[in-house]
Amino acid sequence: MILITGGAGYIGSHTAINFLNAGYDVVIFDNLETGHIETIETLKPIGHVSFEKGDLRNLDDLEKLFFKYDIEAVVHFAAFSLVGESVFNPAKYYRNNTYGTLNLLDTMLKHDVKKIVFSSTCATYGEPEYTPIDEKHPQNPINPYGASKLMVERIMADYDIAYGLKSIKLRYFNVAGCDEKCRVGEWHNPETHLIPNILKSTFGKGQTFKIFGNDYNTPDGTCIRDYVNVEDLARAHRLALEYLNKENKSDVFNLGTEQGDSVKNIFDACEKVLDKKIPVEIAPRRAGDPAKLYADAQKAKTLLGWQPAKTIEQSIKTAYDWECRLQKLINKESDL
Ligand code: UFG
Repeated sequence: MILITGGAGYIGSHTAINFLNAGYDVVIFDNLETGHIETIETLKPIGHVSFEKGDLRNLDDLEKLFFKYDIEAVVHFAAFSLVGESVFNPAKYYRNNTYGTLNLLDTMLKHDVKKIVFSSTCATYGEPEYTPIDEKHPQNPINPYGASKLMVERIMADYDIAYGLKSIKLRYFNVAGCDEKCRVGEWHNPETHLIPNILKSTFGKGQTFKIFGNDYNTPDGTCIRDYVNVEDLARAHRLALEYLNKENKSDVFNLGTEQGDSVKNIFDACEKVLDKKIPVEIAPRRAGDPAKLYADAQKAKTLLGWQPAKTIEQSIKTAYDWECRLQKLINKESDL
């Protein structure tokens, strides 16, 4: 049985589908603070999936979970992930993302579970010293979110040396798109990410999409990021666990497409995929945005045999299908 923490959230739910489709039994542990119970209901017909509501900050919840299920490995997503919020409420991030993970690792050791795949982030690198960013790039996070994840990476390295707990740390770049069959998707409140914000602005609720800054040192003046499809990313987690099972050694991998797209490129691609003009305005820069971030993901390609397969157009199309579904769901809720 594979434990997926945060499996009711965006990346966790897509990863749960990938594991279920590959024939694994899965138990999801989620406090439903940012995840959704509807997601769990959607996952049930796909395969053998159980759900336990609980919180990483509560050792009793973890103890009951590990006592009840025969867990062989953990894929760990449960975390808060809003960079801006982490700056004014760092305690929330260190308590959940760092201290909560420490509880998880200690409970794993207590129950002799010694394999974990960890959802880390390119935010652990901070302001890039060079691009593309490889795994050897110095890690100097510039916000508590990135710092809370980097601390976990370091704890995991020490737990390997001292207790033999093996971990694969996956540092993602920007995640985009949704399940091809539109069963699960990106459902954040508030939504801060680029593609859903562009798409939301097409639903005519007076929300104009804003480009945060067009005076960066990039060819069109807008920020460059590396947008990796969520289904490609989900597959990488299963490959990482299978690699860990085979090699039994800890490692770290960047996950990205190695292609940089500017905010303007993504906006143009959305207009093309939707075949409509989208209202847009230029707004001031958002604090803490580096001009250019994209991955060197050769290591994941070579060692995990991972290859991102989906195009940015596919990500936009599936994100739009999901957004249409979400709008209906939200409208229904507000009618009640
Ligand atoms: N952007 C806009 N308008 C919007 C939203 C975003 O112009 O309405 C711009 C941002 O300024 C940025 C780019 O689009 O230049 C991408 O922004 P996102 O918020 O989609 O993603 P980030 O690059 O800020 O964040 C991602 C992950 C974080 C991670 C971070 C590391 O979502 O979890 O990369 O830098 F921490």
